[in-house]
Amino acid sequence: MSREELLAWIPAGHPDETLARQISFDRLPAHIAIIMDGNGRWAAQRHLPRVEGHRAGIDAVRDTVETAARLGIEVLTLYAFSMENWKRPAAEVSTLMMLLKRYLRSELNTLLRNDIRFSVIGRMDDLSRDIQDELHAAIDRTASDSGMLFNIALNYGGRAEIVDAARRAIESGVRPHDLDEQRFADFLYTAGQPDPDLLIRTSGEMRVSNFLLWQIAYAEIYVTETLWPDFRRWHLLEAVQAYQKRERRYGGISPSPAVASAK
Ligand code: FPP
Repeated sequence: MSREELLAWIPAGHPDETLARQISFDRLPAHIAIIMDGNGRWAAQRHLPRVEGHRAGIDAVRDTVETAARLGIEVLTLYAFSMENWKRPAAEVSTLMMLLKRYLRSELNTLLRNDIRFSVIGRMDDLSRDIQDELHAAIDRTASDSGMLFNIALNYGGRAEIVDAARRAIESGVRPHDLDEQRFADFLYTAGQPDPDLLIRTSGEMRVSNFLLWQIAYAEIYVTETLWPDFRRWHLLEAVQAYQKRERRYGGISPSPAVASAK
């Protein structure tokens, strides 16, 4: 999409408009990955049960998905449920699954309207049958969309993904000698997708929590104190703007000011 698509969606005079005008549309991150954190703390601050934080987090998901699509982001990946999250109380796990189901049903039209293709990364086969059916329905209905790819990481673990990729590589019969980083990446859940350029984590925690371990090798990390349920368009635009101010070196050296200014 474009600056116009984004601006058309922001009411004139809204503070987000200034931020949207400052974004360089020729230097957008191709892939943004987000660790949505702080739902429990958001609820605790309001003396509410933890699940109310997850419920409020859905509004942040909705806003973020549409903002990313209108910005023209190629891939957005949200970390919704890790393999470790099964350790949470059963009632919290089932609420999270129920919210996911409800989100998929209520937002399918928004995904279609914005040309968003939905996908899941993680060990989907271990999820309950009804959740799998719901996920497959959304994947199938949006399969021909050609805009942003929206991955939800569900029952996801970065190390498990690497193990799964190694198993698939072995099963494919690829010869060890032929296996290099590029070939190996083709066995990951994210095969064919650009690696995240920008990894956002909300609620101030400085951890990567087993998320996209292979893919974030050169990602720029942006941590905000904002708790996930409060995260909105403005916060995503702010993160993209911060990303655009970074200098990416990929292990090389930065050009000296004299060389840089001569270019
Ligand atoms: C972390 O907050 C958040 C999660 C484990 C789940 C995120 C899920 C949602 C926002 C709702 C469903 C998602 C989709 C994509 C429809 P936390 O509970 O660990 O917070 P805390 O660290 O403050 O306790």
